[in-house]
Amino acid sequence: MRVLGIAGSLRRASHNRSLLRAAAELLPPEAELEVWDGLAAIPAYDEDLDQEGEPEPVAAMRRAFAEADAVLISTPEYNSSIPGALKNALDWASRPFPGNCLRNKPVAVMGTSTGLFGAVWSQAETRKVLKAIGAYVLEEELPVGQAASAFDADGRLLDRDQQELLRELVQSLVREAQAPVEQSQAG
Ligand code: FNR
Repeated sequence: MRVLGIAGSLRRASHNRSLLRAAAELLPPEAELEVWDGLAAIPAYDEDLDQEGEPEPVAAMRRAFAEADAVLISTPEYNSSIPGALKNALDWASRPFPGNCLRNKPVAVMGTSTGLFGAVWSQAETRKVLKAIGAYVLEEELPVGQAASAFDADGRLLDRDQQELLRELVQSLVREAQAPVEQSQAG
């Protein structure tokens, strides 16, 4: 089973990338995490461009989403919301609607930020956007605050409770991917 991991940050030393690596360690043996690294190449959404023929980076992203059994997003928070690059990529992923590459796809959202609250608003908004797109969005969240001191030298979360919550989150995601839902949450 293939889980596609996406960090909502373009920063080389991104803590959200670290959180994805920590998640990869906790996947059950039947699942593997492949980190998608194409976010920086996605142009600003333009409906004209979309209708004239999708740009190659967008086509590659849509293919990667479509071929994944599940998606795991780790997002920082920018100004109390979703980083623009991630929101932009999700806008591209949402088209054509409703038969898009995320339709009924099991998706889990987690996030880390350097502040105390661990990107909690960004996660809530990312989940809202994913539901509007028609993905199957897990209700669980994982806010990891104070990112700069949250990981040990091996990349694991220092807080054992959070490490367990991360394990539960990835296991729930794999379970959902093994038993796909019939109905999307989109209204
Ligand atoms: C931030 N940061 C931030 N953190 C937070 O908890 N709430 C916020 O609203 C914001 N806003 C914000 C805006 C902008 C433009 C930047 C660059 C940063 C801090 C942010 O959590 C921190 O930079 C993280 O380290 C970003 O995640 P990565 O890049 O480490 O994955």
